[in-house]
Amino acid sequence: MKIRVQRGNATAYRTEALVALHFEDGILAQEPAGLVDRASGGQIGNLLASGDFRGKLCQTAVIRTGGAIPARRIVVVGLGKRADFNLEKLRGAYAAAARQVRDLNLKEFALAVDGGVLDLPLPQVAEAVLEGAMLGLYRFTPYKTVDRESMTDIRDIHVIEDDEEHLKAIGKAARTAEAVAKAVFLARDLVSRPGNDMTPSDLVREARTVAGGRPVKLRILDDAQMKKIGMNALLGVARGSSEPAKFIILEYDGRRKSDPPIVLVGKGLTFDSGGISIKPSEKMDEMKTDMAGGAAVLGAIAAVADLKLPVHVVGLIPATENLPGGKAYKPGDILKSLSGRTIEVITTDAEGRLILADALTYALRYKPVAVIDLATLTGACIVALGDHVIGMLGTDEALKARIREAADATGERVWELPLWEDYDEQIRSDIADFKNSGGRAGGAITAAAFLRKFVGDVPWVHLDIAGPSWLSKDRPYIPKGASGVGVRLLVRFLRDAAARRGEGRGR
Ligand code: BES
Ligand code: MN
Ligand code: ZN
Repeated sequence: MKIRVQRGNATAYRTEALVALHFEDGILAQEPAGLVDRASGGQIGNLLASGDFRGKLCQTAVIRTGGAIPARRIVVVGLGKRADFNLEKLRGAYAAAARQVRDLNLKEFALAVDGGVLDLPLPQVAEAVLEGAMLGLYRFTPYKTVDRESMTDIRDIHVIEDDEEHLKAIGKAARTAEAVAKAVFLARDLVSRPGNDMTPSDLVREARTVAGGRPVKLRILDDAQMKKIGMNALLGVARGSSEPAKFIILEYDGRRKSDPPIVLVGKGLTFDSGGISIKPSEKMDEMKTDMAGGAAVLGAIAAVADLKLPVHVVGLIPATENLPGGKAYKPGDILKSLSGRTIEVITTDAEGRLILADALTYALRYKPVAVIDLATLTGACIVALGDHVIGMLGTDEALKARIREAADATGERVWELPLWEDYDEQIRSDIADFKNSGGRAGGAITAAAFLRKFVGDVPWVHLDIAGPSWLSKDRPYIPKGASGVGVRLLVRFLRDAAARRGEGRGR
């Protein structure tokens, strides 16, 4: 799928389908919908008069123009009520339009970015339009052999603009949206792939592909190397599986000044059966999502490198399966983590925090300015917040504020849970330093309280993505299944960080 930005007038553009927008409560005031309507002899007006289309959010209608304009069809998409409209709805509306075009088995369509639909800068509107259109078209088909022939894909999205200045801004927005969507697709693909095709070694191969051809350095620690440095929490989890664990290290330095990096840590549990503390079998298949944090980190690094952002970022992905093999770690076992602290295993199903403990300790080697971890860490977070929002906990107010800003801008929203020291008591062990479960009460919080023991005093934020990483229903621009959550949030955060540095230099 490619976005092609061209100079011209949308009403005069020859295409299979031209997208036009309509507010539920508005007369057809929007450009280019108004222009299209006039050029086509009032065809959109007729549709509205018919009462068949009211412009409810994401509602679509197809008009065959019959030669009134060069476009063969107009795909009208509803935006809902003007007062309730926002960037997130804009993304959804264009996703609906793009899917409508695909349902017609067409291979291309055209649109004009209407900067006037929202009171926001044009680049921001353009990015949302194009991101929405692309993200909504995602589907995961590598394992389909029967239905595949009947599936057609959109090859080109034409963006038509006649203003020279706007053309430049839209061109740039298109390149950005493409890089970001590609990274989200990568993350969705990795999470969608089943556990038998997404082992820690497979994840390493994917990391190689990301690093190859990009200015990204890759290092892998195998189990011998991990053993040597003492990553025994991660290795403890890996013992129940015959697939070897891997520790993936990616580094992108867009500044080349060797100043301290931002470290991103992503849980890469390629399949979580629960181990000896085995999970109920219902929905256990969904536990292939347990590497969604790692996938988000990999995607974000790919995008940041493609965008050539002037930031220094390290990505760490501890990768293993959690299975109940004969050598598996057991409840009651005590593991000595990389930090030297000892952990009593209460349940082998609280494995995420164990592999993250070693990864977070490793992160401190970089003397980072900030550490952000993403993990499908707790069912408790889903109980607390559902699947619409990421649970956020952390030690640094400024870092949390910046993540909140990026979250609001992308629609990958976060909601903070408290991390008071009171919760530490729940993870204190009688015979080791800590235990890996604090019981049912406040499960998302005690998990974060556990992680905090391994981050020293570095500004740190933990994002629990257990809810939004896997969706059981379609969202406007996120088809059900793997959402790729975290990629856009991280990229936005890093773009903002790059912009802030730029400002700093100027002063
Ligand atoms: N990977 C799971 C958390 C999870 C649950 C992710 C549902 C996505 C959907 C994690 O490893 C886990 O099993 N957590 C336990 C911790 C508990 C045993 C302390 C949980 O939340 O039940
Ligand atoms: Mn688990
Ligand atoms: Zn898990």
